[in-house]
Amino acid sequence: MPWYDWNESLNIGVKDMNDEHKVLIDLMNKLYDQYEKKESHAALLNTFESLAAYTQKHFADEEKYMDSISYPELRTHKLIHTQLLVQLDQHLSKFREANGTLASEVFDFLKMWLNAHIKGIDIKYGHYGSTFKKSA
Ligand code: FEO
Repeated sequence: MPWYDWNESLNIGVKDMNDEHKVLIDLMNKLYDQYEKKESHAALLNTFESLAAYTQKHFADEEKYMDSISYPELRTHKLIHTQLLVQLDQHLSKFREANGTLASEVFDFLKMWLNAHIKGIDIKYGHYGSTFKKSA
């Protein structure tokens, strides 16, 4: 059973962004699976770095999309992305320097991101985007 299953509560109504969120969840599930199987530091680091790189791509794509619909909360959303990237990078740096296993707090952080950010913050531009399309 995966660490986190995609479900309808994560559907923000923008297909491309839903697809990118699914890629992020796949990478998180892969990281958790490797963590559970106690795979090597190098293997986990590789997945963690892929997750960080894809997160940067996703945030940039999402900001471009929000800009394309003239989303009024773009600036605030960008700031939240910056904070998430700083936190993600802190977890990644800590793991890079550690020889041992990944701290379980990393998964608490990732779950908070999925539950609070996608369901609470991303969903808002999804709603705004559907209104924007109707009035365009
Ligand atoms: Fe899908 Fe704002 O991150």
